[in-house]
Amino acid sequence: MRKIIIDTDPGQDDAVAILLALASPDEIEVLGITAVAGNVPLALTSKNARIVCELAGRSDIPVFAGCDRPLAHTLVTAEHVHGKTGLDGIPLPDPQMKLQDRHGVDFIIDTLRAEPPGTVTLCPLGPLTNIATALTRAPDIGPRIAGIVLMGGAYFEVGNITPAAEFNIYVDPEAAQVVFHSGAPITVMPLDVTHKALITRDRNDALRALGTRVGAVVAAWTDFFERFDKEKYGSEGAPLHDPCVIAYLLAPELFTGRHINVEIETQSALTRGMTVADWWRVTDRVPNATFMGDLDAPGFFELLTTRLARF
Ligand code: RIB
Ligand code: CA
Repeated sequence: MRKIIIDTDPGQDDAVAILLALASPDEIEVLGITAVAGNVPLALTSKNARIVCELAGRSDIPVFAGCDRPLAHTLVTAEHVHGKTGLDGIPLPDPQMKLQDRHGVDFIIDTLRAEPPGTVTLCPLGPLTNIATALTRAPDIGPRIAGIVLMGGAYFEVGNITPAAEFNIYVDPEAAQVVFHSGAPITVMPLDVTHKALITRDRNDALRALGTRVGAVVAAWTDFFERFDKEKYGSEGAPLHDPCVIAYLLAPELFTGRHINVEIETQSALTRGMTVADWWRVTDRVPNATFMGDLDAPGFFELLTTRLARF
């Protein structure tokens, strides 16, 4: 059983990642969900996280609002990908469950201090603002983190929001730099892997064929948010970026990567947010992350579909 905190900016792909985690209670205990500004502003990401919990029948999961803007830049959002609500694709009822009063950053700090050291994994699916703020405000939590498994960055795939940078890192590069220098064990799901997790037509049809509310909603979400990647990359479907994080917790054998050094560009306007991954180990910079490069896509979708069928 792995105890996790999901830090997220839903976002249809975040939503599928949350569903995958909640569909796997024998392997994953979700201690809480902290929302961060990213794909859409915080008011919407914190609302959308609750919508997803209620869709999963899990209004017991505590949801917290975290930071509403990056550490050093104005917020950049991605309505062009995820729609105005962040969960465009199918109308869903407003959540009944309330937001927790505590700030998301305080929940992260309090939980890491309360749980035995090395037992809580952080799963950031959006900009790293909450995680970095927690690490800066409470440096003692760093050694208590079992691991950070995050979606962000790119190397061979380069950028999706600029020619050089992936969205999560681009929005808050200073936060990413804090996280990548935290000393915590970091596993990275970059675009190099998530662009191989394409929900093609037949995979989308398999979700719809589940005949369940969750299957229909996920199929509608991915139908909506695939258009951006189809237009831009000519890809065969939406890349399920964030579910790769949860799939790694459930079936790490689906992924292959390298333990390498990853630095974050924070100075240059041209390459802000670029993850400078020393994939070929051409520097003597100390490795600080396991950077994934390949994915067993059929195995990933088999896992995702069979787990979502549980709802
Ligand atoms: O670049 C993809 C990432 O940015 C995903 O996490 C998506 O949800 C957005 O947050
Ligand atoms: Ca996300």
